[in-house]
Amino acid sequence: MTLIKVENVTKEYKRKKSSQNLKEELLHIFHPKYENVRAVDNIDFSIEEGEAVGYIGPNGSGKSTTIKMLTGILTPTKGNIYVNNRIPTKERRKNNREIGVVTGNRSLLFWDVPVIESFNLLQKMYEIPSHIYEKNLREFTELLELHSLLTVPERQLSLGQRMRCNITAAFLHDPKIVYLDEPTIGLDTKSKNSIRNFIKKINEEKKTTFLITSHDFQDIEALCKRIIVIDHGKIILDNHIENVRKEFEKYKHIVFEVDNNMPMKLAAPIMNGVKFIYNDCYYVEVEYEIESVEAKTIIDLVSNYCQIKDISISGRDIEHIISDILYK
Ligand SMILES: Nc1ncnc2c1ncn2[C@@H]1O[C@H](COP(=O)(O)OP(=O)(O)O)[C@@H](O)[C@H]1O
Ligand SMILES: [Mg+2]
Repeated sequence: MTLIKVENVTKEYKRKKSSQNLKEELLHIFHPKYENVRAVDNIDFSIEEGEAVGYIGPNGSGKSTTIKMLTGILTPTKGNIYVNNRIPTKERRKNNREIGVVTGNRSLLFWDVPVIESFNLLQKMYEIPSHIYEKNLREFTELLELHSLLTVPERQLSLGQRMRCNITAAFLHDPKIVYLDEPTIGLDTKSKNSIRNFIKKINEEKKTTFLITSHDFQDIEALCKRIIVIDHGKIILDNHIENVRKEFEKYKHIVFEVDNNMPMKLAAPIMNGVKFIYNDCYYVEVEYEIESVEAKTIIDLVSNYCQIKDISISGRDIEHIISDILYK
């Protein structure tokens, strides 16, 4: 079932025009001039129930704007958005009950009161039945190790602790969809892992649908099978990570640990689409074009000249592939 549908959506912001010279600038104080900034430019995508999708793009490419439109905070300038068959801006209350939002820079908790009291308030706001609230609270406290944090006000928590509590807050009402905008920004590895494991578990067990933006490709690779890449407000790629790898990964890299690479260095043939690198006498590194050469051919060739002790094959990671797509 399609849960999120975005059709030809554009969002423009009105921004006060700044000017180059002082006289104009002073004039603008009394008669401000505006210009339109197109943050999202005619985008289309849909997301099925249970999917976890990575929404990737450079700073200012329109990711947060898209999420704000999906949550109903912003109205599109053009186009249609349907979330669970509703127009989010028109039915905000109903929409809010079904979604969770986590952003790296805004909190769902109250600064000065113990975390548990913020959670209790959310229970009332969302009218979460007690048995569900208590079950979720127990489970999430365990998974995100919140035991010692519940009685502490948010202002006394570290960044990682605060994010773990915010994640809990966003999931207490069993949302169907959760939007995560930079959920791990600035966090240490332990907090990142704990958040990733939590999201993965909820996605698998409750079939919750996720849309995640992150600078950290490890988040995306750990959590998402599909990515949507946005640049200057336009979607430039929408595909499964594995397909993107297959399509854009032209080269692979094999490192052989060998007894001695000298015989090969002296006699190996020159092959099209293959580059041999001999940095040290115990290694042969081979970069090859996957279209034209098979790994087996390379392995056979090296084993003709050297005694192979170990082999590791690696592809390029998704971060490099995306960066090639964006900046070439
Ligand atoms: N409230 C706003 N008023 C004017 N321009 C904005 C506003 N919010 C974002 N923008 C502009 O819209 C573009 C997209 O921003 P944003 O959606 O925040 O990108 P991202 O989340 O990908 O970094 C940027 O050029 C940004 O400067
Ligand atoms: Mg953003």
